[in-house]
This record gives sequence, structure tokens and C-alpha cells, in this order.
Amino acid sequence: MSTILVTGGTGYLGSHMLTELVRQGYDTLCVDNLHNSSPAVLDAVRTITGKAIPFIKADAADTAVMDKLFSSRRIDAVIHFAGHKAVGESVAHPLMYYRNNYDSALTMLEMCLKYGSALVFSSSATVYGVPHFLPLTEEHPLSAVNPYGRTKLYIEETIRDVSAAHPDFNVSILRYFNPVGAHESGLIGENPNGIPNNLMPFVCQTAAGIRKELHVFGNDYDTPDGTGVRDFIHVTDLIAGHIAALKKLETRPGCIIHNLGTGQGTSVLEMVRRFEEINGVRVPYRIVERRPGDVASCYADPSKARRELGWEAQKGLDDMVRDSWLWQQHSMAR
Ligand code: UD1
Repeated sequence: MSTILVTGGTGYLGSHMLTELVRQGYDTLCVDNLHNSSPAVLDAVRTITGKAIPFIKADAADTAVMDKLFSSRRIDAVIHFAGHKAVGESVAHPLMYYRNNYDSALTMLEMCLKYGSALVFSSSATVYGVPHFLPLTEEHPLSAVNPYGRTKLYIEETIRDVSAAHPDFNVSILRYFNPVGAHESGLIGENPNGIPNNLMPFVCQTAAGIRKELHVFGNDYDTPDGTGVRDFIHVTDLIAGHIAALKKLETRPGCIIHNLGTGQGTSVLEMVRRFEEINGVRVPYRIVERRPGDVASCYADPSKARRELGWEAQKGLDDMVRDSWLWQQHSMAR
């Protein structure tokens, strides 16, 4: 059975990934520096799966520690989630973003080449910049509009260079649209520090009374109701996409790139209304100015992943708003 190393394993996506890998019978290892997360997450993963995940508290950029880990046992693949991910913070602290995100990616690439491991890299739809056409296919031109986006883009370019030089290296680049929702147990989910930047955590905290009202950033976009349109994808669907990518990597395909989205665009107000309806709660909101850097609409053409990975999102908006709220309630009860 394969052993999979998950970097950033105590984060939102990492914890769901570990849970699903265990369920599927993989051996797992978790590396995290706990910069933005808590080791208690692994207790929750243990409660769900009945299995303790071996945990190494370390920075994925730390070449000496990683070399020791990779030389101590066979690692078939790395799923590299570790990294900073707040756009606003990346604008204020670009060097911190370049240093951290780039260093850990370079270390993982070096380890994968040295020890013959495959790699799955967490990229983002942010690499498409301002959409020239919709839905976004993997062939859409790439650009970045902030330092966070540039870290994703540069790492993608680096992976393509490495792949060209080492055709035997098997690597999957997954471009995520907007992951939301949580595990159906309500035991793991997204746990942002401080005031959330992203829509769903803010909606949850507003419904819970932690925030007074949601600020809807602009209602004068060229969209059906004037608010921003995004491709929200349930986190368990996103994770299933990683399992599909891992299976594909076993066929030694070289470098592969796929969108992970539903293909369905949902506006901010549609999301808010559905959240209220399904959960029977109120989400007070106010329309405010547009947020700089936001685009009107962004949604995927997910057909390449369906064709090549046999993967397709299964869950809809109702599941997303229900599971996000369940997680919010559980996290407040603790
Ligand atoms: C953001 C990042 C993107 C990153 C992704 C995942 C920006 C510009 N983009 O995507 O690079 O990969 O998160 O972490 O930050 N909204 C509100 N009120 C809020 C929050 C959001 O109206 O309090 C609106 C936004 O204007 C947007 C939509 O909700 O129309 C989604 O926003 P968000 O959840 O922040 O995701 P993105 O901006 O799509």
C-alpha cells in the first residue's frame, strides 16, 4: 500500500485529505509547522478515522528535516498544501509569501526528484488572472494579479521546467476554484484566524452572531444580480479530485494539470439566500464598495478532469451551506 505525505496536514484541506486517505486505506504522514493551525485537528481526524496519523512538526521548507524523513521510509507521493494563502496579507508582506511558499515547494520538488516520489501541487484558479473567457479551461492564458497568485503561478512554471528536464517525474497540478463546506461529521472544517477574508466563513460567523453583518463587496458587476459569481466546490469533492489525481499518477503520466471546480457559478447573494433557507438562520448583510482585485465572475470548465481523471463534483450548494453551518455550530460548542 502506498504511503502519502501530506504537508499542511493540519489545515482545512490537509485535514480532510488525511481523513479520506485513511478511509481509502493509504498509509499517511503529516508535516505541518502549525503556523496557522492546531495539532488538535489530528485528534479530530483520529476520532473520525479511528487511526492516529504520524505527525512531524516541521517546516516543509526545511531540507535537512525533510531529507531525514524521506530517507527513513518510502514515500510514494507528496500532497503539498503547506503555504500562506491570504491575498491581502501577501500584498502587505510579499517577501514573506515568496520566501515561504516558494521555499517549501522547492524543497518538496528536490525531495521528490531525489527519492522518486510523485507530487500533487495545490494550485488555484487565481493563476488565470482576469478571465478572458468563461468557463475557464486549463488552456486559458495565465497571469497573476497579487503576490499570493504569483507564488502559485511561479511554482507552476517551476514544476513545468522540472518536468521538462525530468520526464520521469510524475506531478499533478490541481487548480482549485472556491472550496467551502466541511466533513459531514462537523469535526473538521475551515478555521480562519481573526476576521475571515473569504465569503463562506464570514457568512457562517455572521449567522452565528460573531459578526454583526456581512459586507457584500459590490452589486454593480455584470452578473445576473450584480454580485460576484464564483464556482464554490464542496471540500469533500475537492479531496476526491486529489484521490483521482493520485490514481492517475500511478500510470506515470508525467506532468498533468486539471481544474477542480463544479462548473456552476453562484452569486454572493444566491449563496447567502440559500444559506438562510437551508439552515433556517438569518445572515444580515449590507452592500458596500467592490473589493479591489475582485473579478465579476470566475467558474471552471471541469470537463478535462472528468475525461482524464474520471472525477466529477457530486455535491451541490445545499450540501455546501448545510455542512459549513454544521461545522460552525460544532466549533462553537467546543
Ligand atoms: C479568494 C482569493 C483567491 C484565493 C481564494 C481561496 C482574492 C481576490 N482572491 O478568492 O486568490 O485562491 O480566495 O482562498 O482574495 N465576498 C463578499 N464579502 C466578504 C467576502 C467575500 O462579498 O466578506 C465576495 C467577494 O467579493 C467574491 C466572493 O464573495 O465575489 C468570493 O470571495 P472569496 O471567498 O474571498 O473568494 P475569491 O475572492 O473568489
